[in-house]
Amino acid sequence: MTTEAREKRIGIFDSGIGGLTVLRELYRQLPNESILYFADTARLPYGTRTNPEISWFVDEIVEWLVRSEVKMVLMACNTSSALALEQVKSKFDLPILGLIVPGANAAVKQGKRVGVIATPATAASNAYRRAILQADASVQVWQISCPYFVPLIEQNQLDDPYTYQIAQEYLMPLIQQQIDTLVYGCTHYPYLESILRSLLPMSVSFVDPAVSLVKAAARELEMMNLQNYKRAKPTQFVVTASPEKFAELSRKWLGYTPIVTTPKIKKVTDILS
Ligand code: DGL
Repeated sequence: MTTEAREKRIGIFDSGIGGLTVLRELYRQLPNESILYFADTARLPYGTRTNPEISWFVDEIVEWLVRSEVKMVLMACNTSSALALEQVKSKFDLPILGLIVPGANAAVKQGKRVGVIATPATAASNAYRRAILQADASVQVWQISCPYFVPLIEQNQLDDPYTYQIAQEYLMPLIQQQIDTLVYGCTHYPYLESILRSLLPMSVSFVDPAVSLVKAAARELEMMNLQNYKRAKPTQFVVTASPEKFAELSRKWLGYTPIVTTPKIKKVTDILS
């Protein structure tokens, strides 16, 4: 592969700051790779959108990433991965990886009674249950839809007692089922780690699908001879609305204030054209 192809960015996208938990993993495992991060902040949350809406958004975003000349796309969004991975994989001619199968494979290695917390759309899709049972049919799976988590995280309300109360409510059925493993079925949820840990027995192990997704991406890059051996370029951040808010919110998790751009356009969908 040419040096030019190797030096291209990896495109990753989410509805908002959730994908930063995948970005953090990319920085850890693939520090030489340059990243283009796209957040569809104008249309979040995705988890309460209809399936056709999610498919449409994902299609537009992947098309935009392809036009931005990325060498690979990582869906840093479980909702998109659950509903639209196959569709974009068959449409676009570059490696596109989602979170569900890597997350499911990691979960069956860790436990036999698996709880998955996810957005309403991901939970309703049954994607995690299917992938986990495909990996190991002897595992039991409980999926919980958590509609309030993403809005609370995007509003920076992690320390609000209400967030703790909501988490307690969502986890109750999983505690009753005595799960041994909890899967973060949404990339926003690792931000809730301390709350979730405080509510679950110590013996419950956590699965962050981002870890396995990035491992799979590393294998794919190696297979395609696309690894970058040079120094990574600074991550480029593009959002569809409120770049200042995104920069401010992500500073806490990234440890630096990112430069965030929004193309100057009139309509949200024009950004993607
Ligand atoms: N962080 C995304 C996910 O993993 C999307 C959450 C949302 O926008 O509802 O599902």
